[in-house]
Amino acid sequence: MSKKVTKAVFPVAGLGTRFLPATKAIAKEMLTVVDKPLIQYAVEEAVAAGIDTMIFITSRSKNAIMDHFDKAYELETELEAKNKTELLKILKDTVPPNVSFVFIRQAEALGLGHAVSCARPVIGDEPFAVLLADDMVEDGERGCMAQMVALYNEKQSSVLGVERVNPADTGSYGIVKTPDTAEKYAPIEVIVEKPKPADAPSNLAVVGRYILTPAIFDKLEHTGRGAGGEIQLTDGIADLLKDETVLAYEFEGTRYDCGSKLGFLIANVELALLHPELKDDFSAYLKELNKKI
Ligand code: G1P
Repeated sequence: MSKKVTKAVFPVAGLGTRFLPATKAIAKEMLTVVDKPLIQYAVEEAVAAGIDTMIFITSRSKNAIMDHFDKAYELETELEAKNKTELLKILKDTVPPNVSFVFIRQAEALGLGHAVSCARPVIGDEPFAVLLADDMVEDGERGCMAQMVALYNEKQSSVLGVERVNPADTGSYGIVKTPDTAEKYAPIEVIVEKPKPADAPSNLAVVGRYILTPAIFDKLEHTGRGAGGEIQLTDGIADLLKDETVLAYEFEGTRYDCGSKLGFLIANVELALLHPELKDDFSAYLKELNKKI
């Protein structure tokens, strides 16, 4: 019988040095886009995809993430006493009902592949999702991961979320090669981590969305250090390709690279323009600003 995707892994152990000094004492996943931390967007996307077990691969100094997904008794009592029902709802919504949160410490930062392999004892023999919170995807609807779960359910193959990037930027991504097709998905022929533009097999880049079969865990056990001296998930997937079909899926929606300062700013502006409370005033402000620049 086919198994459903019910678990998601959120690798959040990285140091976030690109955002120093903001990330000196705060996890980069807690940086906010408009009014929510990046990690909350990712968890909401997983919930919208029917996932009910959120597994965080964390490190020291990431306790704020654990607190964020815990019940905040003092705040709740205070807001209840003051009858602030709307705020209370916002607060309670951070912890969706019937969702479990699991935290696993990654003692050593050995790379994304290693981080994912730390989830093996919790995942066991099931397909699972991986979401990198600094890639935010807004599709105005069910979300990128829900699209990918639908494809997984149909094909029963691993699925990677991909999009075309500027060919000059291949060195920042896992890059895949697929046969030409009119479909939104295609089987991956080659995957390589962060190739220089001259060596890249295409400009089709993996963004931080994966659905993987549990066969990846055996592969990761034998994956040596790759690009940047790290155990790369991409290299484990390259090994998986020898045994199984892995699909590249060009998702619907806009991806914001919130791992870069510019992408993070763009996400804040565009999400503010979608925010029910802010969009009118903010777009009026931007129009005025535009006259000055
Ligand atoms: C990671 C992956 C890379 C992927 C990217 C997406 O790289 O290793 O394959 O394309 O996420 O954001 P990182 O950005 O963590 O260096």
